Amino acid sequence: MRRKTTVGEVDAEVLAYTAGQDRVLDAALVEADCFGTAAHVAMLARMPVKPPLLTPADAQAVVAELRRVLADAAAGKFKITLADQDVHLAVERRLTEKLGDLGKRVHTCRSRNDQVAVDLRLFAKVRLLEAMEAAATLARTLVAFAKKHAKVPMVGRTHMQPAMPSSVGLWASAWAESLLDDLALLRTAYDLNDQCPLGSAASYGVPLPIDRQLTSDLLGFAQPVHNVLHANQARGKMESIILAALGQAMLTLSRLAQDLILFSMPEFGYFRLPAEFTTGSSIMPQKRNPDVPELLRAKAAKVLAHANLVAEIVRAAPSGYNRDLQETKAPFMEGFELAISSLRILAPLMSKLEVDAVALRRGFGPEVFATDRALELVAAGMPFRDAYHEVKANLDKLAGKNPDAALAAKRHLGAPLGLDFAGLAARAKKAGDWAVRERKRHAARRNALLGLKA
Ligand code: ARG
Repeated sequence: MRRKTTVGEVDAEVLAYTAGQDRVLDAALVEADCFGTAAHVAMLARMPVKPPLLTPADAQAVVAELRRVLADAAAGKFKITLADQDVHLAVERRLTEKLGDLGKRVHTCRSRNDQVAVDLRLFAKVRLLEAMEAAATLARTLVAFAKKHAKVPMVGRTHMQPAMPSSVGLWASAWAESLLDDLALLRTAYDLNDQCPLGSAASYGVPLPIDRQLTSDLLGFAQPVHNVLHANQARGKMESIILAALGQAMLTLSRLAQDLILFSMPEFGYFRLPAEFTTGSSIMPQKRNPDVPELLRAKAAKVLAHANLVAEIVRAAPSGYNRDLQETKAPFMEGFELAISSLRILAPLMSKLEVDAVALRRGFGPEVFATDRALELVAAGMPFRDAYHEVKANLDKLAGKNPDAALAAKRHLGAPLGLDFAGLAARAKKAGDWAVRERKRHAARRNALLGLKA
């Protein structure tokens, strides 16, 4: 059976197969598609050709209709039909229904390939900034938690076995610093994404004097992607770069989650998860399960797998646009959702996490002080290896020392009592403030171009 689409007739099953999930997923791209289209028509209206492709009044009429599309979308009234296949043709159909021939001119010098590429970059900008804001907030929460419990002793472990005296402050701020590294990766991903592919068309440019710099500026990108073929091929690669950066943040969160699960077990009792972050059991009345950190572990696995999935989809793609790219959209969007929700849920959990200093101190067996004892002998003049063997031979004689005194002796840079909480907090604040400013700048660009009120 043949079915009519917005751009010709297609076999019904082929249409369903090729449109895939686009009709649903593209709902998240309506805003970006309208933003990109507004920049495109503004550029077309300024193109030095005679007769002009679009007059400034035409461009204004298109933008006014795009505003109505956005309003309809916000009210859940903008529909992407199967015949449209995706958001791009749905918007074009709507513009043509309302504006006639003018609507049919909008796609001049543009392909759905560069259109979806620019949509996804605009979408990614907003979501990356949300992720960065959430990561910075979580990093600050972790630093505050670390500072509050800076001097609470905690057994430091290697191989999960008791190793050396440590502190809750060291443990918590380690995750904060890991997130600062992740923020640097996210920022790099943001900067790479901040290049405009619009005007690359099907992958090879167009034989008319379009102004790619202008559309890039109107959309608030740092610059256009230079090479039009690269502009198209970077789709998929960009998604995998972004997902990889999100995956690193999830890696940090997943390991923190694992520690939370472990150390809040009754056998440890170091931490107590806030009641509202635990769930009960349908059969066992006493249960307070750590479902949030458990799901965090699983969601981290998914984001990391999505980064790999997207890279795999494009790995063997030949040059130019290939429809394979469409399949990267779902893991890309889901990766953002998983990462952002995870970053957001941990901050309130951490700020309400209870610390049981008594249980933490109880964890200190005498063996935790073995290395400190050896270094004490070293300080008195014994070569380290001799001191090591001396202590090893007399492990049973190790007296339980005071964990507070052990911590007090560790004052060098980055050690339990040498932590620069203010420096870490300042770095987190800087990253978060930047993301907020950039989000506002982006929203202002969009509002100016579409004539929307702030
Ligand atoms: N929905 C399509 C995608 O995500 C848009 C581009 C279609 N381009 C094409 N040449 N069929 O890739």
